[in-house]
Amino acid sequence: MALLGVNIDHVATVRQARQTDEPDPIWAAAEAELGGADGITFHLREDRRHINDRDARLLRETVGVKLNMEMAIADEIVDIAVNLKPDQSTLVPERREELTTEGGLDVVRHHDRVAKAVKRLRDAGITVSAFIEPVTEQIEASADVGFEAVELWTGAYAHAKTPGELDAALDELRRGIDAGHRAGLEVLGGHGLTYRNIAPVAAMPGFAEFNIGHSIVARSVFVGIRKAVREMKRLLTLHAPRSS
Ligand code: PXP
Repeated sequence: MALLGVNIDHVATVRQARQTDEPDPIWAAAEAELGGADGITFHLREDRRHINDRDARLLRETVGVKLNMEMAIADEIVDIAVNLKPDQSTLVPERREELTTEGGLDVVRHHDRVAKAVKRLRDAGITVSAFIEPVTEQIEASADVGFEAVELWTGAYAHAKTPGELDAALDELRRGIDAGHRAGLEVLGGHGLTYRNIAPVAAMPGFAEFNIGHSIVARSVFVGIRKAVREMKRLLTLHAPRSS
């Protein structure tokens, strides 16, 4: 069964809406752990629009499950990660004008810069994952630059409007999982996954973990984070591939 990483950035987004000290994403992480999260994910963006340096430091001190830091390949952020030592760094593209991470990192195009960041992070003992589109070329380039894992962008599946688009996106993810495993990589998935659309991807053999943020934080407004996480964990169990 795939593990669940819970992205808590949105809790910090609400705090920043008033530039105050509540809700605290550190509390959210603790609640998510109590709900059964296998990992806590946060994105320290260059513009610090939600998670800030204090949050990153306290998350490292307090999170007991896998701590996954999403980050751009910018030198300043790589320096912070090397000192912070999250269990895992997920390298993502970052554009200032975007609402959230859109699409995957282009490892083929930025090969040398990415390879340099990967080496620095791995030398610091951090597992490094690439957030990429499920495209064979990107997956093979990720293995080539030294990533140990890839998180396949599930956005095409999540945004599919017709049954044809849905099937094509699921096929692409299946091929991505195979290509990842052939290249010796652990394969994770994330972006746009919700309580409504998780079943088909949860049922797909080969995903080691899903990273989910928006849908869980949205549901937690009504039921609390602990319960929202528990409900998503239950869906992952219910729909897990038979063999796992
Ligand atoms: N994985 C990565 C690499 C992301 O950047 C994000 C969004 O921050 C997620 C997963 C979670 O996406 P969502 O908030 O749509 O669940």
